[in-house]
Amino acid sequence: MLRVKMFVLMPFLILLLTLDYSKGEVKMLPLVHQTLNCNERTVLQCSVSSSMPLNNVKVFWKKQEERDFECDPESKNNPPGFECNYTEETLTLTISNLTPANMGTYFCCIRTDSGHAKEKIDVSIGQCPGEFSNQMAVPGQVQCSFNGVYPKAMINWYHYDKNLTSNSTTTSLENSDGTFNITSVLNTQDKHKRYNCSLWSLKHGRYSDQEIEVEDQAKSSPVSGISTELCLSWALIFLSLMFSSRACLSL
Ligand SMILES: *[C@@H]1O[C@H](CO)[C@@H](O)[C@H](O)[C@H]1NC(C)=O
Ligand SMILES: *[C@@H]1O[C@H](CO)[C@@H](O)[C@H](O)[C@H]1NC(C)=O
Ligand SMILES: *[C@@H]1O[C@H](CO)[C@@H](O)[C@H](O)[C@H]1NC(C)=O
Ligand SMILES: *[C@@H]1O[C@H](CO)[C@@H](O)[C@H](O)[C@H]1NC(C)=O
Ligand SMILES: *[C@@H]1O[C@H](CO)[C@@H](O)[C@H](O)[C@H]1NC(C)=O
Repeated sequence: MLRVKMFVLMPFLILLLTLDYSKGEVKMLPLVHQTLNCNERTVLQCSVSSSMPLNNVKVFWKKQEERDFECDPESKNNPPGFECNYTEETLTLTISNLTPANMGTYFCCIRTDSGHAKEKIDVSIGQCPGEFSNQMAVPGQVQCSFNGVYPKAMINWYHYDKNLTSNSTTTSLENSDGTFNITSVLNTQDKHKRYNCSLWSLKHGRYSDQEIEVEDQAKSSPVSGISTELCLSWALIFLSLMFSSRACLSL
């Protein structure tokens, strides 16, 4: 008999407890100002709404994936790259330069005498296009890089519609901000003048083509050979002049 009563009572108690826990007339209304783009200043915002005046208000931001993350408008010691403010019932979190490492779930939190509340805002980035660069490697090779790419991507090589990728090697390095530096070297035995270095991601497909023109190697390498020889001979002349002037001075 007693057991039956307990079973009936338990859900009731739990209901009471949870009601009490989330009691308080205070609410947070989350809002993100704009679409989230890589390397842009980003503002997350929560408005506090309450049916009565609030006393002893403490507001702060937390991040689900990082236990130690806390941004507190009252504190001078907030995570680098983050700023938070609380004015006129609005709590903001400004991320100065959004990177993939900043992705995750943020919570705006409020504690007052009359209750507490929190709301979550998910932050994710579609894509960081990265910056293209190319270096002429050794003769017979071309190299291209996309630095600061997200998500992880591949480089394919084309000469118009001919796929040359199987004659290339690609390496990918992860940066501390969560982006990748992707570099590829193509062996160019076929001696075409133009190649396309093409960035592909699983998610977005082919999204950046960069045409590379190979310099005329027959001309360019001997020129640099001559100039180093010239430099060397000028250095020798300079050195011998220095020695002869020192010899004069010591006389
Ligand atoms: C935060 O507030 C301070 C002073 O109230 C102001 O100087 C600063 O620009 C604000 N920062 C942001 C990101 O709104
Ligand atoms: C490189 O790609 C661009 C755009 O996709 C195209 O117009 C161009 O003809 C290509 N060039 C080569 C050498 O493949
Ligand atoms: C790769 O290079 C070899 C010459 O070294 C060439 O015969 C072959 O056609 C190239 N493959 C592609 C896919 O271009
Ligand atoms: C080009 O070749 C690479 C590997 O050889 C392959 O992964 C890629 O899908 C090919 N691209 C196209 C457009 O055929
Ligand atoms: C990626 O490229 C950037 C720009 O060139 C460079 O500053 C950075 O050190 C590179 N990162 C890695 C992991 O090599």
